[in-house]
Amino acid sequence: MNSAEIRQKFLDFFASKQHQVVPSAPIVVKDDPTLMFTNAGMNQFKDFFLGTKPAPYRRAVDTQKCLRVSGKHNDLEEVGYDTYHHTMFEMLGNWSFGDYFKKDALEWAWELLTEVYGLPKDRLYVSVFQGDEKDNLSKDQDAYDIWKTMISEDRILFGSKKDNFWEMGDSGPCGPCSEIHIDLRTEEEIAQVPGKDLVNNDHPQVVEIWNNVFMEFNRLADGSLVKLPAQHVDTGMGFERLCMAIQGKRSNYDTDVFQPLIQFVAQEAGVKYGDDEKTDIAIRVISDHIRAIAFAIADGQLPSNNKAGYVIRRILRRAVRYGFTFLDFKKPFLYKLTEVLADQLAHVFPELKQQLGFVQRVIEEEENAFLRTLDNGLQRLGALKDKLKENNNTIDGKTAFELYDTFGFPLDLTALIAREKGLKVDEAGFDVEMEQQKNRSRNASASEQSDWTILQPDASTEFIGYDCDTSESYIVRYRQVKTKSKSEYHIVLDKTPFYAESGGQIGDTGFLISDAEQIEVLDTKKENDLIIHITTKLPQNVEAAFRSEVDAARRNLIRKNHSATHLLHAALRKVLGEHVQQRGSLVSEKILRFDFSHFAKVEEAQLREVEQIVNERIRESIPLDEQRNVPIAQAKEMGATALFGEKYGEFVRVITFGRDHSVELCGGTHVLNTGNIGYFKIISESSVAAGVRRIEAITAGAAEEYTQQQLNELQAVREVLGTQSNVSGAVQKLQEENKALQKQLEQFELKQLSSLKDELVQKVQPLDGVNFLAEKVDVSTADYLKKLAFDMRQVVDNLVLVLAAEIDGKPQIAVMLSDNLVSNKKLNASQLVRELAKEIKGGGGGQPFYATAGGKETAGLQAVPTKALELIKNSLNA
Ligand code: ALA
Repeated sequence: MNSAEIRQKFLDFFASKQHQVVPSAPIVVKDDPTLMFTNAGMNQFKDFFLGTKPAPYRRAVDTQKCLRVSGKHNDLEEVGYDTYHHTMFEMLGNWSFGDYFKKDALEWAWELLTEVYGLPKDRLYVSVFQGDEKDNLSKDQDAYDIWKTMISEDRILFGSKKDNFWEMGDSGPCGPCSEIHIDLRTEEEIAQVPGKDLVNNDHPQVVEIWNNVFMEFNRLADGSLVKLPAQHVDTGMGFERLCMAIQGKRSNYDTDVFQPLIQFVAQEAGVKYGDDEKTDIAIRVISDHIRAIAFAIADGQLPSNNKAGYVIRRILRRAVRYGFTFLDFKKPFLYKLTEVLADQLAHVFPELKQQLGFVQRVIEEEENAFLRTLDNGLQRLGALKDKLKENNNTIDGKTAFELYDTFGFPLDLTALIAREKGLKVDEAGFDVEMEQQKNRSRNASASEQSDWTILQPDASTEFIGYDCDTSESYIVRYRQVKTKSKSEYHIVLDKTPFYAESGGQIGDTGFLISDAEQIEVLDTKKENDLIIHITTKLPQNVEAAFRSEVDAARRNLIRKNHSATHLLHAALRKVLGEHVQQRGSLVSEKILRFDFSHFAKVEEAQLREVEQIVNERIRESIPLDEQRNVPIAQAKEMGATALFGEKYGEFVRVITFGRDHSVELCGGTHVLNTGNIGYFKIISESSVAAGVRRIEAITAGAAEEYTQQQLNELQAVREVLGTQSNVSGAVQKLQEENKALQKQLEQFELKQLSSLKDELVQKVQPLDGVNFLAEKVDVSTADYLKKLAFDMRQVVDNLVLVLAAEIDGKPQIAVMLSDNLVSNKKLNASQLVRELAKEIKGGGGGQPFYATAGGKETAGLQAVPTKALELIKNSLNA
């Protein structure tokens, strides 16, 4: 069976057991502050388990793109070295939301593995939870008894909390689990050590393939467990491992999931996979990492310098580094792999193929930037050589950390390069620096969040803000969040008009008002599907009835900007082409910001055209056509624009402003008629990343004010110029006149300088065998001072010249010596000028024959000639 068939059989099997087949959620998580990337199939169903949202189906099945590179589940450092951990992997999963439980789950798992896939029963082991005293949980006898009917008891192992109690994170839904492991070793190997002893022991051929979790609890922030409202099943099978088992391979990388990538990399590098462990590791790292990088970008996460973007950047750099060091890839190479990957997975995850050009461009640009960084870092290391000699040929911890922090050099790369150059690295010193930085960032962001206080257990929030901006509400839960600098409250209501920040639109502000008090809502955010009102105070009576009131004036400005964003999006596609895809947006009451894929600067004329189209639509006064609960397939048929990386449910909201103009899937708030936007004005166009442009624009009163300001400025210029027409012509004329005047002035000054020189030549005096002059002069620039000194040197032999001048209100000194004095008399202009600079409270230097100094005290200039005479006399006599 090839991997595509294996995946399909899984989906078909559970579909035949009445499971709804659902699409993978994006790999990048948007609405959950506890998670950056999807790390398990159940993430998208978290609310169904917690009971904060009803599940639309009781059974589901899918294959989910997962990434385990940060937080509780992190496999990054293993990847490439072993044969069965990955950054991105597919998790095949089936779910019961309060429907079937242990018996069906385990029996179906067994049926699928042994009958459909035909895996040998005598190679399988299962594990069940042994219980845990601290959590006051008994052993999972039910699971044991179910397994006993299918598998011999010596193949059922008890496991501790570490292996057999699954938790999504430090808090959240969790429960005992039952894992299925497979032994893929040869008969001889098995005869030597029984598989039982190798289960959960990091053996590459005795691996866990499937985990069945029985979700029954919620772990609270204080560490305690509470029962969930219902019992659920959450399973996850490692797709790549399953392929290894079914295809009879000893490594995930030997399956058809990875082979096309592996062969491509090997061919590019001109090596053979399997010949050399070092190059093999590099090939595996690259073949693995490209999957994570490409799909994260396709789902909307660009590499960047913080949070999720930084994780992707680090993975990309890890891949580049392995290619650079072990496969001699000195030019971008990763981006080429995306085509192989996109073709391979087009039938399951089409988003990559659909955006291939864009993803390639982003990756290639990132690679280029990092290769340049590598180069700079190498040069920096080269420049350090002398210092390192003094330092026992060791790169100290601080420098290694600087290379890491500023140049993106991971420690192992520094160590690798160092070794090639016969140097050592103070790794302990590096660790100290790293720890200090971690402490710094920990302190900055440390926050403490209490558990929810639940007032109404089953209530889920109803959002009514599309239709009104006030409502009668009750608090259903709240909690306190403390950081170093502030303390705030999170309040969830049964019903709310407050829009929680999402889809680029910022959260509403306003008030919660009861008979007794008024609480200000500072912001509204989403946590999965909970709408959280952020306040600085908790009401004295949390059970009171509240009138929740959105700041309607602010909301109206937001609406205008959001609808204008849709019109802008449509106009951009019309003017620039259909390749324009939304890459991010921000809609606030002040401004709208729209990021989109496009490979060149948007020309001024194109911007004007876009602006004109949007304003035309505004003047057409197109009424809002809002449709809620449209089946997603139907919305797509209507031609609605969907965003990559956005999680859409089965039913969506469609916002239309003119059927043939703008139809988008959107959850935001909009004007009832485009006429309400009033006026639209683009204020900037720029680049945010490779292939991504940004337009900022304003609407309504803000746009009018902006335009008025521009006109006011123009009017002011007109008045200054004293002309009402052809302003630019008048300015141009001024500029030309100015240029001509400057030229005249320059000529005049040069003439003056020349007569000053003649005057000074007359003043030169013999002094102990040299021609000496120290004089305070009047020149306007440092360049003229220099020219004067050099011109004097041309005409006077044996010259010792000291000039002092005030230039732009600051004292300056120049010392000029004829060459023969430098060599014969051992005079040095640098030393002299430094000595003289003391008079003006300054410093300077230069060459032995010419040096300059600047200072702070202009009054000191007077003393310079006398001091110079004294100094020179002493030097000559010595
Ligand atoms: N959620 C479970 C896991 O990730 C199935 O292992």
